[in-house]
Amino acid sequence: MAGNGRLALRTLPGSGWVRGSGPAVLRRLQDSAVVQPGFLSKDEEETLSRELEPELRRRRYEYDHWDAAIHGFRETEKSRWSEASRAILQRVQSAAFDPGQTLLSRVHVLDLEPQGYIKPHVDSVKFCGATIAGLSLLSPSVMRLVHTQEPGQWLELLLEPGSLYILRGSARYDFSHEILRDEESFFGDRRIPRSRRISVICRSLPEGLGPGQPGQPPPAC
Ligand code: OGA
Ligand code: MN
Repeated sequence: MAGNGRLALRTLPGSGWVRGSGPAVLRRLQDSAVVQPGFLSKDEEETLSRELEPELRRRRYEYDHWDAAIHGFRETEKSRWSEASRAILQRVQSAAFDPGQTLLSRVHVLDLEPQGYIKPHVDSVKFCGATIAGLSLLSPSVMRLVHTQEPGQWLELLLEPGSLYILRGSARYDFSHEILRDEESFFGDRRIPRSRRISVICRSLPEGLGPGQPGQPPPAC
């Protein structure tokens, strides 16, 4: 059975973590929409969630802002981290960003409740540069990318706890991204039940802005 399972994974279009509307879009985005499953060890996942939990718990979940992209969430922007977490974020930086890229100094932490979800959007170019890298904790989820001009072109990323995803270049600018709500949470035919999910998102500064530039972005950009 295990052998069959692996075979089935191998025959999916894309890898076990990335599916697409066709081979062309998979090829086109193969370096710009990347999933690294198991990026975090179990210990690292726990380090991050233990550190984040008290800060998140102080906030209320927010719902149904008139135009908000995110529903059922609470969030924080964090600049002070324990040494252990700093080492993890350093690994994210090396894995996802070019040496020449400067990161936003505050890391975006987003806590989606089980019914929470993120509607399709493109992160504002005013506040984010070319690269977005996110760690997922607690619950698996599906991120869908849809080309903003040709909606028939899409990708699905399976984001398991402990995984890192990277969106850069075309995947970041030409495709919207969203996190599917529980009822719609499928990776192909495979149901991916959603529970509470925390993401830790690092972004590069908009090109042309130096690190000393004033004006931090709002939490969700
Ligand atoms: C966002 C966003 C994705 C995630 O906050 O803009 O797209 O992984 N988040 O939580
Ligand atoms: Mn986004």
